[in-house]
Amino acid sequence: MIKIIRARDYDDMSRKAANIISAQVILKPDCVLGLATGTTPIGTYEQLIDWYKKGDIDFSEVRSYNLDEYRGLSHDDPQSYHFFMNDKFFDHININPANVHVPDGANDDADAACAEYDKMVEEAGFCDLQLLGIGRNGHIGFNEPDDVFSKGTHCVDLTQSTIEANSRLFEHEEDVPRQAYTMGVQTIMNARMILVVANGENKAQAVHDMCFGPVTPSCPASILQLHPNVVVVADEEALSLCKDC
Ligand code: GLP
Repeated sequence: MIKIIRARDYDDMSRKAANIISAQVILKPDCVLGLATGTTPIGTYEQLIDWYKKGDIDFSEVRSYNLDEYRGLSHDDPQSYHFFMNDKFFDHININPANVHVPDGANDDADAACAEYDKMVEEAGFCDLQLLGIGRNGHIGFNEPDDVFSKGTHCVDLTQSTIEANSRLFEHEEDVPRQAYTMGVQTIMNARMILVVANGENKAQAVHDMCFGPVTPSCPASILQLHPNVVVVADEEALSLCKDC
């Protein structure tokens, strides 16, 4: 079941999402958080950092598993998702670095890298709360539109639309890696709660299709309709095609 929470704007979306994550950490200090990159959750991370600095949240026992990583980029490459997470979140809170997990983009053996990551997520008991952004084409993590829903962590070829969308964070479009390791849809669905954040008009179609379209792998996020506990926090623009919710 998808519960939709309307936010006035990006800041309001970020605070509402941070409140939900904060509640999870307060209720279960050693919880497993599934975390996401992209520009959408940056404000959520900033709000959590602020509350951490005020002494309201303690991340010392939290374990985190990120959704995805570019294949071929090591954790200290400034374009890697691991670097992004350190820079935007982990370096500013008291999470134990040993409890932070991101797929190993530097391991060129895709099968080994993905199997190792799946094993770690499974041994952690899957995520208590999985934070997700959504791609303009309805992708979650890097699970691109496809003929089937993916299962565990796997290596994907990024679509041209995702390469173009993500090129804004690189100097040249040619610099965007063409492949990534991503948690599969089934792994994401194993989370006990899923929190999706979305803002801006360019996400309106994807948000509509996620919540109200047919459940189809051509819009990977649509599978969330089959999960018992999904919360979407989105601003007015992202909800502009969801008139009656
Ligand atoms: C990337 C990430 C996704 C993210 C998406 C949207 O492709 N792999 O996890 O949700 O981009 O990013 P943004 O939030 O910047 O729009």
